[in-house]
Amino acid sequence: MDSKIRNFSIIAHIDHGKSTLADRMLEHTKTVEDRKMKDQVLDRMDLERERGITIKLQPVTMKYRDFIFNLIDTPGHVDFSYEVSRSLAAVESVLLLVDATQGIQAQTLANLYLAMEQDLVIIPVINKIDLPAAQVERVEKEILDLLGCKKEEILKTSAKTGEGVPELLDAVIEKTPPPYKKEVESLPLRALIFDSIYDTYKGVVAYVRIVEGKIKRGEKISLMATESQSEAGEIGVFSPDYKPTEELRAGEIGYISTGFKEVSDCRVGDTVTLSKDKEKVKPLKGYKEAKPMVFAGIFPQEGDELKNLREAMDRLKLNDSALLYESEHSEALGFGFRCGFLGVLHLEIIVERLKREYDLNLIVTVPSVAYRIQKKNGEETTIRTPQKMPEPGETEKIEEPWVSLDIISPEEYLGKIMELVKEKRGIYKNTEFIEGGRVILYYEMPLASILTDFYDKIKSVSSGFASINYDYLGYREADVVKMDILVAEEPEESLATIVYRDEAFQKGKEVVQILKDTLPRQMFVLKLQAAVGGKVVAAERLSAKRKDVTAKLYGGDVSRKRKL
Ligand code: GTP
Repeated sequence: MDSKIRNFSIIAHIDHGKSTLADRMLEHTKTVEDRKMKDQVLDRMDLERERGITIKLQPVTMKYRDFIFNLIDTPGHVDFSYEVSRSLAAVESVLLLVDATQGIQAQTLANLYLAMEQDLVIIPVINKIDLPAAQVERVEKEILDLLGCKKEEILKTSAKTGEGVPELLDAVIEKTPPPYKKEVESLPLRALIFDSIYDTYKGVVAYVRIVEGKIKRGEKISLMATESQSEAGEIGVFSPDYKPTEELRAGEIGYISTGFKEVSDCRVGDTVTLSKDKEKVKPLKGYKEAKPMVFAGIFPQEGDELKNLREAMDRLKLNDSALLYESEHSEALGFGFRCGFLGVLHLEIIVERLKREYDLNLIVTVPSVAYRIQKKNGEETTIRTPQKMPEPGETEKIEEPWVSLDIISPEEYLGKIMELVKEKRGIYKNTEFIEGGRVILYYEMPLASILTDFYDKIKSVSSGFASINYDYLGYREADVVKMDILVAEEPEESLATIVYRDEAFQKGKEVVQILKDTLPRQMFVLKLQAAVGGKVVAAERLSAKRKDVTAKLYGGDVSRKRKL
């Protein structure tokens, strides 16, 4: 008998309506009671709801007709595409959602390619058809062009009004292949950990897709990569809250309270099996480890908060396997951590979570990429902080990470976008024209150029219409230098940065000007300098405070005091 389980995921560009569409499905299948229903119910974190963005994948089990649906909602921002790829390894089909007013955008393509790599069935959906600005026919043409599917296969929904949602659920039943073709329940357990969470009450909870076999509470489990052993505590499904069940069977998506206390015991991508079978089974294909690309120092404002910061990092790491951290010491900022992130939004979210969920006061340094350095003595190192840059005379070659960058935009902004990307050292590759007067521009660019204000600038030169996606390419040679900042002729370690040699003069001028404008005046003149390899490239003077002539006038001559 065919399985009655259907596992699927929703993928889309940011804000095309994934979480809202999931809301309508939860309502229609009566998974969440009306009184508990709120907007974007699958965005479990306060931060997600406030910002209206999904950060973490979120599974939920629904019953519809006599089928069991396991849906995984995914984030749309490029920084979180690791969440998307993990979700996709647990499902058989995806709803590819496209906003009817915006059409195909950069992450629509990126996420579609991820789904295609996993050989998943793609169900195209045009959403937001209720909006007056919806251009359903145009977007339909774009999708036909992209997927080569039939027109009738494209579903149309409004996640706002619920129009088209029943038809969508029927299409999921019809088009999503059942999770297994032959009887695999009787095989030894193999379950893929696609996420894990630290829960205050349950300890380390593994989110799993049962590929073969079954598992009951109390059974002894073994993780194949880490070789850690434990006993399964509560097991269950997501409703979307934890809902305990007797057992989990092949094809199902659910959770296992693992009993592990240590983050390192329960790695995402590992295979869970029963201890008694561990010699018999082979591990499932895991995930490529997420590679942090952006680095910044995070320091507690007060030294005695270091222990709490370390604990908070340990916990966050469990919910976020892409986060990387190692101890760091800075003369100015004391002890803290050098952390690696998937992008700037990821950094922003982690800092916000540390502040909010762990009540920490933090200092965060300017984000930078990691540089690979070949020294003249043959040594090779990777540095993640400017302070570790060797002296100019010692280096043979410095390399920086590059990305492939795709920009989708209406044609009329092409000129301005090209100008901006050139300014940011992008190398033009080619252009592709798509339906409705839009283009995809392909570039290669240093990752460092994207870190600062590139996203905002792209939005501003395209009146908000362009979208970008990027993917890591590899390391390439870079002509960069360490720029020191000297305050009162003393180098201020925490202000050092790595800049392109031909921009050092300009950047140096900018930094000393900012310092001049922000530092409080002292009783003496303060020299502010930017220097490269000991040579000053820019300088400013912060003039001394004027003598405080009002100081002597305590309560005396008020009119004179006012004048002064
Ligand atoms: P990320 O997870 O951040 O990528 O966003 P998302 O794809 O989950 O989008 P979300 O569901 O948060 O919706 C984005 C915005 O579009 C919200 O303001 C929704 O209310 C709105 N929205 C979603 N679907 C529809 C729709 O069908 N019609 C209308 N009018 N608005 C919609």
